[in-house]
Parts: sequence; structure tokens; C-alpha cells
Amino acid sequence: MKKERLFAGKTLAILSGGGDTPAINSSIEAIRNRASMLGFKVYGILRGWKGLLGNGDVVDLTNIPYNGIYGGTGLLSSRTNPFPGKTNKEDRSDQILRNIERYKIDVLVTIGGDDTNGAAKEMYKRFGIPVIGFPKTIDNDLRTRTMHLYQGKQHEVVLCPGFASGAMQIKKLAAKLHTTNESHQRIMVLEVMGRDAGWLTGTAMFGGAQMALIPEVVVTKERKDFFFEKVKENYMSNPKRSLLIAVSEGVRWYNDDKDAIEMVYASSDLDEYGHPRFGGVSGVIASEINKKLGIEARGQISGYIPRSGKCYEYDRRLTSTLADKVVDLLLRGEYGKMPVMRNIVPYCELEEFHTDAIEMGNVGNFPLPAPYYNHNEFQFSEQYVDFLTNIIGEPYRMEFNHQFPVVIP
Ligand code: F6P
Repeated sequence: MKKERLFAGKTLAILSGGGDTPAINSSIEAIRNRASMLGFKVYGILRGWKGLLGNGDVVDLTNIPYNGIYGGTGLLSSRTNPFPGKTNKEDRSDQILRNIERYKIDVLVTIGGDDTNGAAKEMYKRFGIPVIGFPKTIDNDLRTRTMHLYQGKQHEVVLCPGFASGAMQIKKLAAKLHTTNESHQRIMVLEVMGRDAGWLTGTAMFGGAQMALIPEVVVTKERKDFFFEKVKENYMSNPKRSLLIAVSEGVRWYNDDKDAIEMVYASSDLDEYGHPRFGGVSGVIASEINKKLGIEARGQISGYIPRSGKCYEYDRRLTSTLADKVVDLLLRGEYGKMPVMRNIVPYCELEEFHTDAIEMGNVGNFPLPAPYYNHNEFQFSEQYVDFLTNIIGEPYRMEFNHQFPVVIP
């Protein structure tokens, strides 16, 4: 007699919502492979929650080759919110429920940040839809309750799929920018994504950024004066007379003209979860450096670079480890939860049973804890260096250090 697989006849559907990361396809591939092995038919829902509105937009992933190294998401993404929000007043959860029934979806896995997974949690709480959340964000600010062992003590940090790949891109970009910056003896202000948290901005330090500003530490009037002093000091003490400063896009910056703390937006239009789009603070800071210190400065927005390109090895293994935990949740029939890493571990230890499952709603905006940033030096601390070294390896910096003999005529 043919032995049926455990979930034969059942359907698991996957969707991805919110900003993409280079690790989403890898997550989809890992979840799909495991779900297929358990006997599920596996569907992909296109464009996040949007793919469950109207008549639905659903594809079959069960036996299709899937390239998890290619970044972004093959299932496409959107910031659609099924529930009423700031820009969308309509409750569309009934459409979602109808489509879950029409497509005969038994389990829904939502790859997302706090918005997408928060909405999934609501579907679970209000209507009992079996959902499992899967974390993702390059900002690395979901509360994954991951612990970092540093100097004999445990510290709560964050580890989200997508962060490692984004970090590699920022590290490489920062390392490259020195060549142009040094050639012109400039100060360059490199803007890095991160609305509310500086986790990703710190990765520029691994490419040689000498100073950093993060959203967690507000740049008040007084702090701004102190910042300019430090900028001058660091620039003048560098024999190359150049300086790379990394700033988070969401840095809270004192505006002299308005006598107010501000964030700089590329557009004030809100998405369906109520977020405006950041962009431009690097230009503002560079022009103020120019004006106040008389040193030539430029802004550089890294924009979508950390979200682009391939999925790096750490994220490959992380997504596969977390997908193993999804299997565990499926086997236990535990829903409304999200797999996470319990500890920060180096690449080689990722698959050694360090996972856990946490409640998947309201895990947003976990800031960089104070010991990970040195206020006085405007720089990330040794503790942060230890944290990130586990994930992306040692800092890297190309050097051009020739001392040319001066010619006396
Ligand atoms: O997903 C988070 C994020 O990467 C933020 O850092 C950034 O502000 C936002 O996405 C930009 O998203 P988009 O322009 O794609 O809507």
C-alpha cells in the first residue's frame, strides 16, 4: 500500500511583503523544498497581500525549479495592508478570507517585517487562519530576541534574514568610496537605509567609515556642535585628509533655521502602513559641513544597493536553518509564530539547533542597544564589531599608502 506523506492533500502558500531583501528567494526556496517534502502542494501568492485580493493572483511552486541565490523576490512584493490603515480606510480581510477558501489554502507562510507579519497575526487572531511568519529586513530591526554573548554576558540583539547580504553590500560600497574621497581630500557622507535603527549603518564601518550617525541618538543642537568638532578633528588627524561618515536615512537632525529636530524625506506620501519615504539627509549634512567647516563634502545615498544583488552565504544558511524551524512548527501545528535564531553564531554553527519560535506580531523597531554605539566618538563600539564579525567576517579596507619623496627644485 502506498504510504501517504504527512501533509498529503494539504496546501501551503507563501507570500512576501514589504521592502525586498536579497534573502527572500532563498527563504522561499528553503520553505518550498521542506513543505514539498512533507507532502504539501506549495503555492506562491504574488505581490504580498495584494495577491489575495479580488480574484487572487496565485502560482504553483510545487515542482518548479527555484533560484534562491538570485536576490529580491520571485513572488514580487507590495506594501498592501488588508486592514484599514492611514491611507486605506477599507477593511479587505473578507477578500483575503474568501480567496484562502477558494484556493483551498491550509497554511499561509508570510515572509515580511512587522507590517506584513503583523497583518498575518491579525488574520490568525481574528479568523483562526493558520499562519507562520518568516522574518526579513535589511534594517535588522525586528525583535527576534536573539542573544549575543560578549565578554561573558548575554545581550539582546537582532538577526533577520537579508541583513547579512545588505551588510556585505554596504561594506563593499564603503570600502570602494575611499578611492574617490581620498583623491579629492573630501568628506563623504554615506546615507544608509534604516528608518528607526542603525544596525545596517554600522556595517559601513567594516568598509572603513570613520564616523557614524544613527536614528537612536538624536542630533540635538548641542550634539550637532560636538559632531562638527569631531568631524574636523578626525579629518585633520587623517594624513590623507579625507573622512567617510555613515548616516542612517532616518537620523534625527537639528535644523538651525526651524530650531527643530527633523527627519529628511524623499517623499511625504505614506504607504498603506503609514510610512513616508526617507532620503536626502546625507546631502543636508554634507552641505552643512561645507558651510560650517569650509571642508569640501559630498553626500552619497546608497539607496537600494543593500537590497540588491545576490543572497550571500550567511543568509543562505540562515534562511535554511529558519525553514527547518518552520517544519517543526508545522509538525507541532503551532501557528501565529515566527522562527528566529536564539543566539548570534558564526556561519559554521548556524545549523546547530540554535532556533526558537516567537509570537509573530508587534516585533517592530528594536533599536540598537546603547553599548553597541559610542556616543562620544560617533562610532560603533567593539561590542558591535564583535556582533557583526560573526555575521560578515573581519572589517576590510583597501589601502594606498605610498609616501612619495618630495622634489625640491
Ligand atoms: O524595508 C525597509 C526599507 O528597506 C527601509 O530601510 C526603507 O526606508 C524602505 O524600505 C524603502 O522602501 P521602498 O522605497 O521600497 O518603499
